[in-house]
Amino acid sequence: MTRFFTLIPAAGSGSRMDSELPKQYLLLNDNPMIYHSINTLYHNKLITSIFVVLAPDDCNWIKHDWSQFSDKLIVLNCGGTTRAESVLNGLTIAKQRNLVDNNDWILVHDAARPCLTTAQLDGLISELTHDEVGGLLAVPVSDTLKRSNIRNLVMHTEPRENLWQAQTPQMFRYELLFKALQNAGKLHITDDASAIEALGLHPKLILSDAYNFKVTYPKDLALAELIIHQRNNP
Ligand code: CTP
Ligand code: MG
Repeated sequence: MTRFFTLIPAAGSGSRMDSELPKQYLLLNDNPMIYHSINTLYHNKLITSIFVVLAPDDCNWIKHDWSQFSDKLIVLNCGGTTRAESVLNGLTIAKQRNLVDNNDWILVHDAARPCLTTAQLDGLISELTHDEVGGLLAVPVSDTLKRSNIRNLVMHTEPRENLWQAQTPQMFRYELLFKALQNAGKLHITDDASAIEALGLHPKLILSDAYNFKVTYPKDLALAELIIHQRNNP
């Protein structure tokens, strides 16, 4: 039987957000940012458990009440110094505790993408369940792309044909993802698909939309808040 798990890396400090509080705990519509991802993943019936990977010294998680999700939530205080390390550490501990098998699907989703929709999640799972490799949500690049030199002078215009922006969830089977992240080691990767690509494989891009953006800078918060508010008050 095919099983689906999700893993949310949430051990970052949010340095670009310019806030004392790590961004995954900043309030968005009265709940911490990470709550919104957990809520969407929790309500998907195919998903067995949600692993949340926190920094070993995280002192913010326990300030909130997560009891409504307790039958699916598994908190692992094993975050690393990079996102890839946090994901790999989470996968390692989940296996050590016999919570996952090699063949299970793992959906890795950033804590900082609170606007993921149920439809996007359903689409990803249904498109990839029978896939050999796995894949990720992504959006085709729509702007014209300029390549600059270090003085911000345009050197040339990059063709945007076949260029996509990677999002999460990114969905791969446990064994492949674990092997890929181990192999990626010191490579400077910022998503899971890059590790799979480094093995010579080709993850599938599943069409998403720009609303599933990553909250990175302070100005992104207001946009995420607006999107969530409009969804909750149609
Ligand atoms: N992440 C993690 N462990 C790290 C770094 C990042 O689990 N050592 C997580 C973040 O918490 C976030 C996701 O990976 O949910 C995407 O990373 P990003 O948006 O870059 O978050 P931060 O690294 O926290 O932010 P910044 O790069 O601005 O410091
Ligand atoms: Mg980061």
